Parts: sequence; structure tokens; C-alpha cells
Amino acid sequence: MTINDMAEMPVQLPRAPKNEAEGRGRYFNSGNAFNIKLPPVPPRILRDEPAKAMAKTATGWVLCDLSDELDCPFPATTPLMLARYATVLAGETLDTTLNCTASIWYMIEGSATLTVGNETAELGKGDVFLLPGGVASQINASETAVFWAVGNDPQLAFEKAAPITGSEAATGFVHYPADEIEHQLDVVYQRDANDTTSGHALIFSAAQTEASRNIAPTLTLSLNTLKPHSFQPPHKHNSAALTLAVAGDPAYSMVDDQQCDWSPWATLLTPAAAKHSHHNDGDTRAEFLIVQDGGLYYHARTMGFEFY
Ligand SMILES: [Fe+2]
Repeated sequence: MTINDMAEMPVQLPRAPKNEAEGRGRYFNSGNAFNIKLPPVPPRILRDEPAKAMAKTATGWVLCDLSDELDCPFPATTPLMLARYATVLAGETLDTTLNCTASIWYMIEGSATLTVGNETAELGKGDVFLLPGGVASQINASETAVFWAVGNDPQLAFEKAAPITGSEAATGFVHYPADEIEHQLDVVYQRDANDTTSGHALIFSAAQTEASRNIAPTLTLSLNTLKPHSFQPPHKHNSAALTLAVAGDPAYSMVDDQQCDWSPWATLLTPAAAKHSHHNDGDTRAEFLIVQDGGLYYHARTMGFEFY
């Protein structure tokens, strides 16, 4: 049977390849090449994963893995980022060597020593740190510790790539202690926000990526705050966001008109280009830590930030 519509055609194979390299060629057309419909990235607030990690029953990882839903062959929370929780029981060790350019960590509770290559740091509640990918690292807990971390592991898995380490590495190890974060946020709070800024937020960067004002080439990290009974107006951007609910009683986000109620240490998934807003209905300041694949979109000149 002859197919008249080119969109219905199957893959076209080389006629008589002279060697294996020619034989590996495949051909599609402008009708059928763009027919693959990937499942959309769902707006979501993930609560089961933090509950599992906070139960503190064993040392290990709890991945926020939506790869089945995304039809993705590797663990992923969004197509380019993976969020996870890590629990390290007192006296135990977790290997944190990851295949990503960088991962961004927040310590939810506990006390631990972090070793990254030949450097060490003492970690406490509320600390943030940036781990370069591919560098041997581990956490030794003195008091049972729980962490939240986001890396661009899926981005590298998609490309079947590995991070460059050593002097050419994209990021180094950076420690942002909780009391320093609090001080730096206070400095920001002493200034006025204007119409072009969306509330008071502390943006994390590093010596190596200072010129881009990002924390890693493709990732951005922001500690956003909302005063009592206030909200961040609806907006959208082409970067996807993974947000840790740090404080907010009560607080919620609207993502594509779906209400996502925050609960302690939940992870909010805001898909790329989804309309969203964050709301603090409580009498205390709300705080949320946002990792985005924003560096990628700034670099590509395709951030597409718009208020509604
Ligand atoms: Fe946003």
C-alpha cells in the first residue's frame, strides 16, 4: 500500500550502504520528524519523599523521580534536573559523588562533616553547599542528618556526558553557612524592592561563576521570602523550578491554576513556562529555596520571564 501523506511514512533507510557508517544513517521528513509527543511535565508538590527521608530509618537517598511519568530513561524530576533527599544516620557515611556538573544542597537538620576531595567542612542546620560533580565526596553524620539536593544529573545523562574535574571544572566546592546566609539576607532586607524585582530574595553565586551571577553554569539558586500575608504575583519563565518549602505557615503556590499547599520540606515542581505565584497566608515570614535550570536559558537568551 502506498502512503501519500509524508507524515505517515516510517523511517527511511539507506539503500545500499557501502559500509557500517553509511548503514547507520536514518532519514525522516518535515512531516513525521516532529510527531513524537512527549508527556508534559506535571505541576506537582512532592510530600511523600521528604516524609520518607525525615523518618530517618536508614542512611541513603530518596529520589524525587518522575522518570516513568516523563517517559525518561534516567531518574529525573524535570527533564534537566533531579531533586532528592539524603538521610545520614548518626555515625554513618553517605557517598555523595554524583554524575552532574554541580549539585546544590540544603541541610534540613543534624550535624555532619562533609569531605570533598581534600577539603572538609562542618555542616549544621540551614547550611547550603555547592558540590562539584564527579569529585569524590562523602558526608559523615555526627548527629542524624537530612538533606535536600538538586543537580543537573538528567542533563548529563541525556547527553551521556560526565563532568570535567580538576582545574578545568565548571564549579568548585562552596559552603554557605546558615548564619552567613541570614546576615546576607538581612543586608538585602535593608534595601527597598522595586517594581522590576519580585520581592526580597538572596541569589547565591560563587567565585568561579561570579561573572554570570549564577551558582553553576546552568543552575541558579535563590532564597526567596514573602512577608506575612503577601504574595509573589503570577509570572512565568522558560526555566523549570524545584522549590524547597523552608518556612511558611500556611503558604501555597498556584501552578497552572492548580493549588499546591506547602508542607514542611516539600518539593514544588514548577514546569517550564507554567504560570505560577507564591502566597504566604501566615503571620510569619515564608522562605523558600528555588533551584532553576535558569543559567541555561540566560545563556541561550530564551529566559522568557513575564509577569501576568
Ligand atoms: Fe518563578
